[in-house]
Amino acid sequence: MTLQLRVYVPPHPLIKHWLGVARDAATPSPLFKTAIKELGRWLTYEAVRDWLPTEEMEIQTPLAPCTVTMVNPEKPIVVVPILRAGLGLLEGAQTLLPLASIYHLGIVRNEETLEASCYLNKLPQQFAPQTQILITDPMLATGNSMMVAMEELIKRGADPSMIRLISVVAAPPALQKLGTNYPGLNIYTAMIDEELNSQGYIVPGLGDAGDRIFGTSV
Ligand code: URA
Repeated sequence: MTLQLRVYVPPHPLIKHWLGVARDAATPSPLFKTAIKELGRWLTYEAVRDWLPTEEMEIQTPLAPCTVTMVNPEKPIVVVPILRAGLGLLEGAQTLLPLASIYHLGIVRNEETLEASCYLNKLPQQFAPQTQILITDPMLATGNSMMVAMEELIKRGADPSMIRLISVVAAPPALQKLGTNYPGLNIYTAMIDEELNSQGYIVPGLGDAGDRIFGTSV
């Protein structure tokens, strides 16, 4: 089987709505944070739709025995937020995955060279085989941060085809880089924008996601 990067842009009205709120430069920081949280919730909903491990069990309703399908609590999905901005999406993801273990990864980019480096790594020494990992990072611009994140995950035994990534806006340079290097990866994003400006920001994009979530732009 030939593996290929898959990029999903779910056609959900709530995803479109919250993306519109996030894109608007007039949106104040608290509402922007809400928009990113809601996008985290709906994009996670789409990403786990066919991915959450379930099990059948017998229960008793008030009237009769019944077979039900429940989420299997013994195989929780792992979430890796890329700090800072990935924390905004994490809030929404956690509303759907309350049992998820959260492993923080801090990655910063040099604003001149656009190279990315890891400044905080709370990943486990080794992931169990077949661990399902959901990465949260709102802006896939150059792809440099995500390449660093993927290297750190793979060093610890993660399988790219068991990794799903949620982002708000993705741009072609990041998709190209990730597709070439990690063809088994699945990406769920609210939108694919066309280009980056000379500072590596996505255009039209939504600006600096971390600054807008945490109110640090002024
Ligand atoms: N990071 C952001 O926060 N915004 C961009 O447009 C690109 C990278």
